[in-house]
Amino acid sequence: MACFPFTRTLAQPRDMATDQRIDITATLGALPAFPQLRGKRVRLRGPTAGDADDLFALFSDPEVMRYWSRAPMRERGEAEGLIGEILDAFSKRELLNWVIVDADDRVIGTTTLFRFDPRHRRAEVGYALRSDHWGRGLASEAVSLAIDWALRTLDLHRVEADIDPRNHASRRVLERLGFRSEGVLRERFFVGDEATDSELFGVLATEWRERRR
Ligand SMILES: CC(C)(COP(=O)(O)OP(=O)(O)OC[C@H]1O[C@@H](n2cnc3c(N)ncnc32)[C@H](O)[C@@H]1OP(=O)(O)O)[C@@H](O)C(=O)NCCC(=O)NCCS
Repeated sequence: MACFPFTRTLAQPRDMATDQRIDITATLGALPAFPQLRGKRVRLRGPTAGDADDLFALFSDPEVMRYWSRAPMRERGEAEGLIGEILDAFSKRELLNWVIVDADDRVIGTTTLFRFDPRHRRAEVGYALRSDHWGRGLASEAVSLAIDWALRTLDLHRVEADIDPRNHASRRVLERLGFRSEGVLRERFFVGDEATDSELFGVLATEWRERRR
């Protein structure tokens, strides 16, 4: 499929109410700000400059960064730089990198939708949670909010995620949400000097909706 670039004439999903295709690029472009998504225990919002300390605490933790494709942060300034990058990428609508906040509006993690592919109606999802909040299903709740929003608002056909196959916690999150393992790409990423495998997971919109009826 990837070697057949001109797919515009192929059938695309349609908005059931209007029988119109949802234009993913236009819909993303029309967003005035990060959509705010509220769950039972967590909320997703866009990052602000005041989140730098909490984001530094998250991304400087070696446990959190164990399977991340970059080294742990060493200085708070890196978190400030990250916030700038996230806001810049949002202004170009390249990605939606929400922060996950608790009831006190403190950042406890991030959830990201990225690599939007409007023609094939898919995107990837990524996530991280502060290690003192692990084991309570909070990441699943946050990722679920993001995917629900993306399927409803952008009418995606498919959502993908990739993990280091050794990342058992991340695998459990994806399995719990109904993603399926679709194969391992060998030595796909360098993490430091180590060439690491990448396991691809996917969920179809039809499967997502079926599980949540
Ligand atoms: C992956 C991650 C987001 C899961 O978040 P979470 O909210 O703790 O997820 P869950 O509560 O659903 O727990 C998932 C699994 O984590 C593991 N886990 C739970 N608590 C844990 C703890 N305190 N320490 C280590 N692992 C733990 C368990 O294996 C659990 O599976 P189980 O419930 O079947 O036993 C979190 O571990 C994390 O941020 N990891 C580092 C960043 C990362 O790897 N992100 C994914 C990149 S692909």
